[in-house]
Amino acid sequence: MTILEIKNVTKQFGGLTALSDVSFQIDEGEIRGLIGPNGAGKSTMFKNIAGFYTPTNGNILYQGKNIEGQKPHTIAELGIVRTFQETTLFQEMTVFENALVGTHIKGRTDVFSAIFGLDKNKQKAAGEKVMEVLEFMGLSDRKDQFASELPLGSQRALALSIALVSEPKIMLMDEPFAGMNPEETNHMMDLTRKVRESGITIVLVEHDMKAVMGLCHYLTVLNFGEVLAQGTPEEIRGNDKVIEAYLGGVK
Ligand SMILES: Nc1ncnc2c1ncn2[C@@H]1O[C@H](COP(=O)(O)OP(=O)(O)O)[C@@H](O)[C@H]1O
Ligand SMILES: [Mg+2]
Repeated sequence: MTILEIKNVTKQFGGLTALSDVSFQIDEGEIRGLIGPNGAGKSTMFKNIAGFYTPTNGNILYQGKNIEGQKPHTIAELGIVRTFQETTLFQEMTVFENALVGTHIKGRTDVFSAIFGLDKNKQKAAGEKVMEVLEFMGLSDRKDQFASELPLGSQRALALSIALVSEPKIMLMDEPFAGMNPEETNHMMDLTRKVRESGITIVLVEHDMKAVMGLCHYLTVLNFGEVLAQGTPEEIRGNDKVIEAYLGGVK
């Protein structure tokens, strides 16, 4: 069943066309890779889906309903969440406190009043949800450490945790493997699979081909703002157009 449909989406910035008539569909429960060279429009696609940009033309349907142009917090409430980058973690807050922020991706924007202004029952429920997610992500032992003290792999796991706490239906992950060593990559692949097995649909923008080919059920390749090809990892690996435009240059 289709959970997300991108229909003829174009996004222009002044005279620059970042996305040109892009269409594709994502099935509920899959891990979809969105790949392509730098500047292809991958992050712009994510920002259109998550409501940070409004498409110049076209539609985005989530569970059959138009969501394009809605505010990010509205889209997050509906269940589509972009994972935090480690640069947006609160470095001088603990792992627990950072994850608590995720309970307020939905609905509220002011993180501090959200954390400190909750009534006792809601605070307790939020705390329990956070501990459940930290346990699931293997971070419960680090709950009192500052985000700044975490190794890269754990920072990324925390970024995932913040998104998970908000109980999303779709997670948009933008380059979660960037800069990771092979061990960190393997661990992150395991975590990504676990998230998917918990019933969440994942859209993954990533250059690390080991991760992309190992995780994704299906790939959509963007090039110069257009869909260059779509297919299984096997099909894409052997696609001459994709090799020429992109895969020839990445590992
Ligand atoms: N806010 C913006 N204003 C102007 N141009 C932008 C903006 N965001 C992205 N672009 C341009 O859109 C194109 C696609 O960028 P991006 O989506 O970041 O590519 P990718 O994530 O695939 O590397 C690039 O040419 C980029 O410079
Ligand atoms: Mg990008």
